[in-house]
Amino acid sequence: MTDHTPPKGTLRSRAWFARNDKMGFYYRSWLRNRGLPNDQFDGRPVIGICNTWSELTPCNGHFRVIAEHVRHGILEAGGYPLEFPVFSLGETQLRPTAMLYRNLASMDVEEALRANPLDGVVLLMGCDKTTPALLMGASSVDLPTIGVSGGPMLNGWYKGQKIGSGTNTISMSEQLRAGEITIEEFYEAEGAMSRSAGHCMTMGTASTMASMVEALGVGLPQNAAIPAPDARRNELARLAGRRIVQMVKDDIRLSSILTRKSIENAIRTLAAIGGSTNAVVHLLAIAGRIGVPLTLEDFDHLASGIHCLVNLRPSGEHLMEDFYYAGGLPVVMRELIERGLLHGDVPTANGRTLAENVAKAECYNRDVIRTYDAPFKPEAGIAILRGNLCPGGAVIKPSAASPHLMKHTGRTVVFESIEDLHERINDDALDIDEACIMVLKNCGPKGYPGMAEVGNMPLPPKLLRAGVKDMIRISDARMSGTAYGTVVLHVVPEAAAGGPLALVENGDMITLDVPARSLVLHVDDATLSARRAAWVAPPPAADRGYTKLYIDHVLQADKGADFDFLQGSSGAPVARDNH
Ligand code: FES
Repeated sequence: MTDHTPPKGTLRSRAWFARNDKMGFYYRSWLRNRGLPNDQFDGRPVIGICNTWSELTPCNGHFRVIAEHVRHGILEAGGYPLEFPVFSLGETQLRPTAMLYRNLASMDVEEALRANPLDGVVLLMGCDKTTPALLMGASSVDLPTIGVSGGPMLNGWYKGQKIGSGTNTISMSEQLRAGEITIEEFYEAEGAMSRSAGHCMTMGTASTMASMVEALGVGLPQNAAIPAPDARRNELARLAGRRIVQMVKDDIRLSSILTRKSIENAIRTLAAIGGSTNAVVHLLAIAGRIGVPLTLEDFDHLASGIHCLVNLRPSGEHLMEDFYYAGGLPVVMRELIERGLLHGDVPTANGRTLAENVAKAECYNRDVIRTYDAPFKPEAGIAILRGNLCPGGAVIKPSAASPHLMKHTGRTVVFESIEDLHERINDDALDIDEACIMVLKNCGPKGYPGMAEVGNMPLPPKLLRAGVKDMIRISDARMSGTAYGTVVLHVVPEAAAGGPLALVENGDMITLDVPARSLVLHVDDATLSARRAAWVAPPPAADRGYTKLYIDHVLQADKGADFDFLQGSSGAPVARDNH
């Protein structure tokens, strides 16, 4: 039989398993109820497989299979795998918004990792919020960590045309509202769009965050783009399982990979892929957990001038399956590294540097991934706006916006809440024209609560029928990564917190000037002061439970909408015995 006396300086799990006493019996015996031999406790690395599988998260519905491949890899490398579930965040089903629960899931991950006998962890992530939630939780514990994304769905196809998750959902719902397609065609397209396992296959938030996992070096090369049903996705999972065992032996912790340099790489890569604005909030939150200083302005400073190379929806034409066949994210990062735009010397999860990982990347379709010298869009990145309407900043994605609206002054049409918008937007009597600026209040972190993806407000049907495709829209909300338009988001402070957005009234004039990075409300200070004195905060959405905790502690978007008490790391100390 194996002697469980702990040698000095050994793995964290030895505090549980290397004991020849009553507690050692507890820790080992119950784990053996599935037929585990005693030698599994001989000091081999114990690896958690943190699984967000759920039938309520369709994008992660294939994760049981992926987990099995990770498990095989861990066993092959001599580790001991232990899979465990955490709160799964399904973007399409959770109400009021999955973002409300991102921080809750991150707490679940953090506490599960710290409280259990784990030496390292493989994070299984897919649908939008599952990726930041798991990275945030793992960052606060800082064990050796490797990320495995579930992969995008295969391209959607309908009537001979590619259709992309979210992007074409939005365009087809507008077509339905404008009477251009029938309800039967609408239903038919639903099945044609989501025709395989995987997450949204546009460059929406899920694909963006999977790309961030790869760009940060937390995942293996090609983590971002291998389609979910492709056998190479399972192969990647198996390799990740093997690799995490060695990472534990070498004590390569998450904090040695998630550094200021790797986050700078991620921000520049975000621009080059035309990624989702949601990544701004999530990267700020992750940086806050791992202890890397990062500000909203960093996104503008680091990424302005970076070209968008990737011709994917919503900014472009193709989908993630095409991106993988064209060579995937390593091609993009090689283009950036060759121009000195990324830190190539950073370590990554596979033990090699980023530059080594992408050195041999080749592009097989230049319509999908352009060269840096002939980019898809020269203007990329995330622009950070300032002005009296958003003293704490606001965000716009120029690559998804209309060039003719990048500098525009317009009359406001104000909606006090999402309900107000829904009530009035379809009314042809609404006093609005295409030069107006739509303003939506009370959809920020505290106001909604959860900061829903409603910033890309639907256009009024009468303007749609007249052929209007875009208008300036301003709010404290977020926007789906699959959406597009001239949409100003994440206004800080939000209206529900008493920000200037709360004081905007119908008919006020606003100037958006993206080249100058400004957003100005043309109302004099005396008038604003009078409006502030009369302003009444909306009643909070909850007076108990998690939602109350959320409202009381959520930070504004410029701090990643994390909880004030969750920023930073508590590490992985071993807690006291419970007997
Ligand atoms: Fe899950 Fe889009 S709904 S990734």
